[in-house]
Amino acid sequence: MNTEIVKIEIDNDSVSASALGEKGAEIFTDEDKAIIRHAGEIIKNGGLVAFPTETVYGLGGDALNPESSKKIYAAKGRPSDNPLIVHIAEFDAIRKITSEVPENAVKLANAFWPGPLTMILPKSDAVPKETTGGLDTVAVRFPSDLVAQEFIRAAGGYVAAPSANISGRPSPTEAKYVIQDMDGRIDMIIDGGENEIGLESTIVDLTINPPQVLRPGFITNEMLSDVLEEKVETDRAIIEADSGIAPRAPGMKYRHYAPQGTLTIIEGKREDVVAEINRRLAQDKAEGFRTGVIASDETIGEYCADVLKSSGKAGDQFVAAHRLYSILRSFDDENAERMYSESFALDGFGAAIMNRLLKAAGHQIIKI
Ligand code: TXA
Ligand code: MG
Repeated sequence: MNTEIVKIEIDNDSVSASALGEKGAEIFTDEDKAIIRHAGEIIKNGGLVAFPTETVYGLGGDALNPESSKKIYAAKGRPSDNPLIVHIAEFDAIRKITSEVPENAVKLANAFWPGPLTMILPKSDAVPKETTGGLDTVAVRFPSDLVAQEFIRAAGGYVAAPSANISGRPSPTEAKYVIQDMDGRIDMIIDGGENEIGLESTIVDLTINPPQVLRPGFITNEMLSDVLEEKVETDRAIIEADSGIAPRAPGMKYRHYAPQGTLTIIEGKREDVVAEINRRLAQDKAEGFRTGVIASDETIGEYCADVLKSSGKAGDQFVAAHRLYSILRSFDDENAERMYSESFALDGFGAAIMNRLLKAAGHQIIKI
């Protein structure tokens, strides 16, 4: 299949999400609008288009067309019991795809939509089981990225989209990674530059009481608890990897985001971590392995690895999240075989960073 690759670069930051509406029309050039209309037609005709969002790139198809969802699973090489998120571009669209919109969904939408939050709700008959991996619930998200919104509208309002990576690889945060994984497998890729956040949306399950976070993200448990006025906790199955409980988000059970070599997280006092990683690097090198390290700006000068990457200033969670997947992919591109990462604090957005890093490391963490 010949994949069309097109570029639309607008400055999402210059337009506040709330100023959308009428302004939406002015942000795009006529050429951009023609591209997005064309992308929308592809979706309406049952094709697949990768598009930018504020979290990671999505691989979009018509959420209400079972054949489109089947094509998404095939393009990603993804097991078909792993449900897709339905992306909408206005709150009211939620009514067609759900059988009930609880008060909590309205509260969370008012607080966080458009934005990096996905809600699990009971599905309506309009959503085929192919889209929800056979479940009676549907995941719904209203992204804040303006290209995403315009595209969803052009596509008819309901776009099923997993992250646009081959199943098991890190989610793509730049179009070049989408091209690496999807060129030749889908109809079109819209290059909208680097994604702002770089980790997938927070998923909150509103079909259970109290609501539960199934995947941590930029919207934290504290932020959700504040709005819902009750304590929201994370699905235990994803915190205790060895608990043997199945995660409520089917996708969280798969090994994910993993680089091709082995990744080990070393946690402890800064100088101890540096010494321990260097000790391991020396040993790996002696055995002939190519090595890699995820350090911080403060420690990067202290390591002797073949591939050295900084996750930014220590403590800057936003930068660390933004860079994580591209660092993991660059380890593969540069053929690193033995990799180490410093650990990150678990507060705030850190819970999401550590969740993805632990998955990438197959939960290999050494506390010293
Ligand atoms: O930020 C994001 O959410 C990105 C962008 C493209 O919007 N999308 C994304 O989709 O991360 P995906 O398919 O890579 O991850 C969706 C996760 C999977 O773990 C899946 O199992 C879970 O959401 N999920 C989807 N529908 C669900 C449902 N009805 N119940 C429980 N979990 C669900
Ligand atoms: Mg994914």
